Amino acid sequence: MSTPTVLVTGAGRGIGRATVEGFLAEGWKAVAGVRDVDAAQAAFAPHPNLAIVHLDVCDALSIASGTAAARQFADAPLAAVVPNAGYAVMGSSEDTDLDVVRQMFETNLFGNAAVMQHVLPEMRASGQGVIVCTSSVGARLANPLLGMYHASKYAMTAWAESMALELLPFGVRVHLVEPGMVNTDFPMATRATGAIAQGEGPYAPLFGELRDGFRSWRERLGVGASDVAEVIVATALDPRAPFRIPVGSDAIEMTAARAKLDDAAFHRWQMDFLGMSWGQERPEE
Ligand SMILES: NC(=O)c1ccc[n+]([C@@H]2O[C@H](COP(=O)([O-])OP(=O)(O)OC[C@H]3O[C@@H](n4cnc5c(N)ncnc54)[C@H](OP(=O)(O)O)[C@@H]3O)[C@@H](O)[C@H]2O)c1
Repeated sequence: MSTPTVLVTGAGRGIGRATVEGFLAEGWKAVAGVRDVDAAQAAFAPHPNLAIVHLDVCDALSIASGTAAARQFADAPLAAVVPNAGYAVMGSSEDTDLDVVRQMFETNLFGNAAVMQHVLPEMRASGQGVIVCTSSVGARLANPLLGMYHASKYAMTAWAESMALELLPFGVRVHLVEPGMVNTDFPMATRATGAIAQGEGPYAPLFGELRDGFRSWRERLGVGASDVAEVIVATALDPRAPFRIPVGSDAIEMTAARAKLDDAAFHRWQMDFLGMSWGQERPEE
C-alpha cells in the first residue's frame, strides 16, 4: 500500500502548518498549499515526504495547478484534505464593507470548496478518504462585530454536513474541527472595516470591550496550533470520529453552554464569559 497523502490549504503558518507537520510525524506524505512558496520553504524543515505548492484558494489557476501538483506528488488519490485557509473580517452590521466580506467568503468558503471540487471526484472514485475542515466554535455562536466571519463558518458547517451525507456511500468521511481560541497570527490577519477601523462611531466602545475580552480569553484559555493539529490528525486516523469536534476547554465549555441554555440565557453567558458590560447600559448617542 502506498503512503497516504494529505493536502492542507492555508498551510504557510498557524494551524495549517502545524497540521502538515503533524501528518509528517505520522509517516504521511503532506502537501502544504501556500500563497508564499519562498516563505514556506524557509519556514518548514526540509522533509522527503513534504511538498510545498502554490495554492491561493481565491485564484482558479493556482487551484488547478496546486491540486494537480498535489496529485502528482501523492502518486495516488489523496487520502485526506484539510480545508483550512481562512481569516476574519470585523465591523458593525451597519457599515461592514461588504466587498471585503465577499473577499473573505471567497477564501473561507468558496475557495476551499473549489479546491474540494478538484480533488473530490477521484477521492470518491477511490472509495476512501477523509476531509477534516478547520471550522471554529464560532460556528456554534456569533460574537458581536464578527457576524460575517461567523456566517462564513456557519456556511462551512452547512457545506460540510451536506458533503458528508452525499459521500456516505462512497467511503469518504467529512468532519469539522471546532477550536476555541488558538494562539496564531489570526488576530493580525483579521481585517477591521467601517467606522470601528478608525476607532469611531457608536460601536467603538463595543470594539474596545471585545478586544479586551478576546485578549483575556486568549491569555486564560488559548491553545497552541499544534493542539488543534493533533486533533485534526487524530480525526483523519479515526474512522469513528464524530462529525463535529470541539478543540480546547473553552470550545467544549461554550458548546455545552450553547446546547444547555436558551438563546437569551446563552447571550448573557457569552457576555459574562467575555467580561463585557455592553448592552447593560444604553450607549450615549
Ligand atoms: N486562531 C484562532 O483562534 C482560530 C480559532 C478557530 C478557528 N480558526 C480557523 O483556523 C484556520 C487557520 O487559522 P490560523 O489560526 O492558523 O490563522 P493564521 O495563522 O492567520 O493562518 C491563516 C492561513 O490562511 C491562509 N490564507 C489566507 N487567505 C488565503 C488564500 N486566499 N489562499 C490560501 N491561503 C490563504 C494564510 O496564508 P498567508 O500566510 O499567505 O497569509 C495562512 O496560512 C482558519 O480557517 C480560522 O478561521 C482559527
